[in-house]
Amino acid sequence: MEAVTDLPFRAVCEELGAALTFTEFLSAEALTRGAAKALGRMWPSLDGRRFAVQIFGREPDALARAAGMAVDVGAAIVDINMGCPAKKVTAGACGSALMREPALAAELVAAVRRAVPARIPVTVKHRAGWDDSCLNAADFARALVDAGAAMITVHGRTRAQGFSGAARLEPIASVRAALPREIPVVGNGDVKDVAAYQRMKGETGCDAVMIGRGAMGNPWLFRTLAALEQGQPDPGPPALAERHAVWRRHAALVVEHSPEKMRQHELRKTLAWYSRGLYAGSALRQRASTVGDPTALVVLGAAFFTDLQSAARTGGDAALATAPADPVAKSVARNLRRDGRRVEAEEPCTAAS
Ligand SMILES: Cc1cc2nc3c(=O)[nH]c(=O)nc-3n(C[C@H](O)[C@H](O)[C@H](O)COP(=O)(O)O)c2cc1C
Repeated sequence: MEAVTDLPFRAVCEELGAALTFTEFLSAEALTRGAAKALGRMWPSLDGRRFAVQIFGREPDALARAAGMAVDVGAAIVDINMGCPAKKVTAGACGSALMREPALAAELVAAVRRAVPARIPVTVKHRAGWDDSCLNAADFARALVDAGAAMITVHGRTRAQGFSGAARLEPIASVRAALPREIPVVGNGDVKDVAAYQRMKGETGCDAVMIGRGAMGNPWLFRTLAALEQGQPDPGPPALAERHAVWRRHAALVVEHSPEKMRQHELRKTLAWYSRGLYAGSALRQRASTVGDPTALVVLGAAFFTDLQSAARTGGDAALATAPADPVAKSVARNLRRDGRRVEAEEPCTAAS
């Protein structure tokens, strides 16, 4: 996801159980022109973990060369984006606009297939269709597989929907039904909890599920789903101490890997994500917006979590008694519950404020 799936975010998701992560979509034209920003975003996963590089474009030659560059940095999969609805992308007839040009889309897959070694799967992510009058996901996917695509991810919205309305499951089911069994189909759209995950798998028959927005600030979703798949008990939402530790890990990765000029913005983003639903989270976010120095932002975040942890240890019951409905009480109660102490609020720790 653009401006989301950078190395720090992907690393945290992988460490909590995500089986495979994808880079942000990268313009083939920018990569082949040597644009530093695009090149800098082809971050290989840490510790040799498998990762996919996602590219987009409409020139077979540029896509083929960009795919070669992805393989050179260690990508295990080259994914082609045919799902982006953004005007800046579809205006150039790239992303989801390719769903209206299936022959060219297939040509792009074939060109990339030829350009990379046989051991590297070439995959595509697309939508349900361009709009309700053009729900061509199944035919489109079949053409891509005939051209050499080894896996298809379907986001169950049309381009016309953008990110609004609900993702539909029927188009994903129709792609699963249309493709040979050995081609994995990945279902995507609105999976933010176990129920949505099970619905996606149950109603579409998809082989895997891709999670986007549901992982922002909740990488523990992967741990829960991995446990479910392995028949293990759900480890549940994180206790406050763990939320603190994972935020610290994420922030440390930002400090280590993000370009200097992005660090402040990225750290603020982590604070916003991990403080969501917690007492004084909005005050923290406000303060963070006025702090420019990355080190000071890390100190601010550490103090936030430390204070909250001591409040939960020492004053939790008082907070519950005085303001049972406010976010303080909720966040403290959630963490007390995990510690086996008094419980009054029922919302999971991951609830938004
Ligand atoms: C900020 C943002 C950036 C995105 N960037 C990409 C991208 O680079 N490549 C891609 O395939 N999809 C991208 N998407 C779409 C998501 O991958 C996903 O298909 C969509 O959000 C629906 O799934 P979700 O409900 O799990 O988020 C982006 C979505 C958002 C909100």
